[in-house]
Amino acid sequence: MNDLLSKFYTSEVLKHVRNPKNMGEMKNPDGVATVGNPVCGDIMKFYIKMGKKGKVEYIKDIKFQTLGCGAAIATSSMMTVMVKGKPVSEVKKITKDALVKALGGLPPVKIHCSVLADKGLKKAIEDYKTKTKAD
Ligand code: FES
Repeated sequence: MNDLLSKFYTSEVLKHVRNPKNMGEMKNPDGVATVGNPVCGDIMKFYIKMGKKGKVEYIKDIKFQTLGCGAAIATSSMMTVMVKGKPVSEVKKITKDALVKALGGLPPVKIHCSVLADKGLKKAIEDYKTKTKAD
């Protein structure tokens, strides 16, 4: 099984699949978003808690719940690691390509998993922005 997995996935992907970072639910998040891919049926949910350093808003905490393939779990996990503690302006510049690169690559049929993680996080930030505008 391990040999088979390492034929498809890099060691970095497998590290996140076996030991996902920031996985779980968050109570009272500032922003939340659920995204899914209707073709493969995978679903990701991102929760964010925001902080402020002076006027700079940053991702204080982030959690995810993913019901999906190994690449979906690995991209969600890596995304949380890459954005935690970072200002929103920097986070917005993180692309799905940067995510794939940080994971050492993904098989072509799994690139859409990184698109989903990118979309999920940006949607959670939008949710936060919408809620704070409404206040
Ligand atoms: Fe669809 Fe991974 S196979 S998100």
